[in-house]
Amino acid sequence: MIAVASLSPADALATVLTVLERWADEPGPLLPILHDVQEAVGYIPAHVVPNIADALNLSRAEVHGVISYYHHFRTEPAARVIQICRAESCQAMGSEALLAHARQHLGCALHGTSKDGAFTLEPIYCLGLCASSPALMLDDEPHARMTPERFDALVAQTRRVT
Ligand code: FES
Repeated sequence: MIAVASLSPADALATVLTVLERWADEPGPLLPILHDVQEAVGYIPAHVVPNIADALNLSRAEVHGVISYYHHFRTEPAARVIQICRAESCQAMGSEALLAHARQHLGCALHGTSKDGAFTLEPIYCLGLCASSPALMLDDEPHARMTPERFDALVAQTRRVT
C-alpha cells in the first residue's frame, strides 16, 4: 500500500478537473477516470464525486455505486504502512519486543490499523539491513537500528508532516 501525501480539497479538485479534461472525448471513461483520480490523489474524495458525475452526465448515485462496487477504490486516504522485520537477525536484536511496543503504541494488532486510521502495522521478512537490526519500513523507506524510542519519534514525526 502506497501512501500519498494528502492534497488539500482545492488541490484534489484541481487534479480531478485535469483528469476529467484528459478523458473528455473518450467513450465510457468512468473507470479509467476513477483509477486516474485514485492514483493522483491517493483516494477518491467524496467532494469530487459531483464533478465526475456532471462531467459524465451520470447521477452521483451511479458514480458512488461504481466506487463502492470495486474494492480497489478508496474513499479515504490510505494509512501509512509500517512493516517491522521479523526475520532472524532482527529477531535476535529485539524486533519482537519492538513489534510489541509498536502494537501498544499504535493501539492495533499486527495487520491492523491504528484507531485514527493513520498507520497499518505489517510484518516483513528481511530488508537486507541485517547488520543494522532491528529494521522496519515506513511506506517504502527503510529505517535501521530501531528502538522503541526511535519508533515513537518516527511515528510522531510522520504524524506532523502528513
Ligand atoms: S533480518 Fe531484518 S533486515 Fe535482515
